[in-house]
Amino acid sequence: MKLKVVTHNPGKVREYQEALGEYGIEMEHVNREYAEVQTSYLEEVVDRGLKALSAEGLDDFIIDDSGLFVDALKGFPGVYSAYGQKTIGNGGILRLMEGEEDRAAVFKCCIGCRIGGESVIVTGKCPGVILHSARGDGGFGYDPIFSPDGEHSFAEIPLEEKNVISHRGVALRMLVDELRGRGFI
Ligand code: IMP
Repeated sequence: MKLKVVTHNPGKVREYQEALGEYGIEMEHVNREYAEVQTSYLEEVVDRGLKALSAEGLDDFIIDDSGLFVDALKGFPGVYSAYGQKTIGNGGILRLMEGEEDRAAVFKCCIGCRIGGESVIVTGKCPGVILHSARGDGGFGYDPIFSPDGEHSFAEIPLEEKNVISHRGVALRMLVDELRGRGFI
């Protein structure tokens, strides 16, 4: 079976291939935009994306949307995480958090899959804290300022370890369970 991954990010296609390849699913990269609605909920972005793409006649595809939700910032940058990273960056988030005692945050990854005319939407979460300064050279995006255990940042944790606990790793395992439960794999 082939599943298209609609994204500009080839790294995501590799992650899906790694997770779903063992079930005989081959991923195909579809490098294009789809309408992203303005809302506070990743699930709504993904649901509307699934509907818009299937209305165009696309089937058997995956889309996803992730973000970092910071409690003290009322969920910001959340669904605007890509924009937040491009504009204020990690330094800007750390400045907004200066003097803030409540450091709680959660990474979320919402995956939507349209397969055999059915829709599956799952959301994986990874709770943690915003550190007081950036740490580590690995990873990408908000990894240096987010810590799942209050000690090490995601940028200091080996990728294999990050994949076990990360929002994307959790969401991928939920997707596999859901596809298996529905008899697609
Ligand atoms: P996307 O929807 O997966 O492209 O993610 C939106 C933004 O959230 C990205 O531009 C990243 O800045 C950030 N992000 C998503 N996942 C991660 C992660 O695992 N580590 C660090 N930043 C992430």
